[in-house]
Amino acid sequence: MSEGSETLGAMSETAQPTANPSRARAEIDLAALRANVRTLRAKAPDAAFMAVVKADGYGHGAVPCARAAVEAGATWIGTATPEEALALRAGAGLPADVRIMCWLWTPGGPWREAVEADLDVSVSGMWALREVVEGARLAGRAARVQLKADTGLGRNGCQPGDWPELVAEALRAEAEGLVRVTGLWSHFACADEPGHPSITAQLSRFREMVAYAEQQGVRPEVRHIANSPATLTLPETHFNLVRPGIAMYGISPSPELGSAADLGLRPVMTLAASLALVKHVPGGHGVSYGHHYTTPGETTLGLVPLGYADGVPRHASGTGPVLVGGKWRTVAGRIAMDQFVVDLGGDEPGEGAEAVLFGPGDRGEPTAEDWAQAAGTIGYEIVTRIGARVPRVYVNEERNG
Ligand SMILES: Cc1ncc(COP(=O)(O)O)c(C=O)c1O
Repeated sequence: MSEGSETLGAMSETAQPTANPSRARAEIDLAALRANVRTLRAKAPDAAFMAVVKADGYGHGAVPCARAAVEAGATWIGTATPEEALALRAGAGLPADVRIMCWLWTPGGPWREAVEADLDVSVSGMWALREVVEGARLAGRAARVQLKADTGLGRNGCQPGDWPELVAEALRAEAEGLVRVTGLWSHFACADEPGHPSITAQLSRFREMVAYAEQQGVRPEVRHIANSPATLTLPETHFNLVRPGIAMYGISPSPELGSAADLGLRPVMTLAASLALVKHVPGGHGVSYGHHYTTPGETTLGLVPLGYADGVPRHASGTGPVLVGGKWRTVAGRIAMDQFVVDLGGDEPGEGAEAVLFGPGDRGEPTAEDWAQAAGTIGYEIVTRIGARVPRVYVNEERNG
C-alpha cells in the first residue's frame, strides 16, 4: 500500500466502520482509471465521454471514480438508479456543469428531486413521461429528458411501434416548457461479439428512430448507444457521446475482444488479504466444508480471510487462483462465507503474508478475468460483487498520477 493512501467509504451509506484493511482490502488505483479514460477517449475523439459509475462504480467506489473520470476528461456521469445519481450530485463535489444521467426508473421515483438536482433522466415509456412532467411542474422548471429507444436489446427502452407517441408527447411537454429533450439513446445487446448480426440491425434501427424524432422536431444535444465494447471496436457507433463502464475499470468486456492488456487497459482493482493462519497438516486431511479437497501428502495450508460474504464467488471453489509467496495457489475445497484455504505445498510464508486474489497482473498475480474464468462468469461480476466489508483503499488520488 503506498504511503499516504486513504481509505474512503466508497459511498458513505455502504461503508463498514469495522472494515479492516489488514484483513483484506481492495486497492483502487485511480491513476489506472484516469489512464483508461484517456485510452477510451482516444478511441472516440469526437464524442463526449459518459463515465458509467453505477453499482458503486462497479464495486470500485462511485465517488472517487466519478471524480477521477472527470479529471481525465469525462463530462457526463451515468448511473442506473436515480438514488445513485442524486447521491453523486449531492456528495461527490463534481463541477456543476458535469451532467449526471440515470436510466432505471420505477413508478413513484424521485422525479422532482431529479429535476431540482439537474439530472438527465431517461424515459422509456408514457408512464415515465407523465411522471417526469409532474416532477417538473412541482419543481417549477423544465426536466432534462432523454428518450430511450429499444433498438433490439429487448430490455428497457421504447419499442419502435410506440416511438411516435412518445416523441409526440415529449414534444408537447417541451412546447409547454416542462421538458427539454436532451438526448436520444439506446443500448446494444451483443456489441462484445464481433460480427454479431444484431449490431448492424440495432445501429440501423437507432438511426431510423433518431431520424424520425429529429424530423418531428426533437433537437437532442446527445445521441448515444456505445458501451465499452462498442467504444473500443465500433467507431461507427460513437455518434456524439460514448458510455463505457467496464473498460474504464481496466477489464476487458469479453475474452473475444482480447485481454485488458491487448486493449491497452490497466485493471484498477487489486484484491488482497493477509493470511490468518499457516499450519502443517498430514496427508489425507480433508479441507473445508464437505471435504471436497484432501491433502495429497503432508503439506502446509494457508487460511485466507475472505469468503462469499465478501463477494469471492463460491463457484470458484477448487479453481480460484491466488498469489501467495510468489506462486499461484488454487483454492483448496469450498469457499465459505468468510474464509477459504489454499494448499501452500510445504511453503511457510507465515501469518500476515499477502494473498493476492487479483490485480493488474504485473506482479505475477491473477486478474479478475482469471477469476471470471474460474467461476464461470464475467469480469464485471467479479469486481462488482466485492462486498462492503472489504475496505477500498485509494492510491494515486492526485491528478498527476
Ligand atoms: C445503459 C447502459 N449503458 C452503458 C453501460 C456500460 O456498459 P459496459 O460496462 O459494458 O461498458 C451499461 C452497463 O451495463 C448500461 O446498462
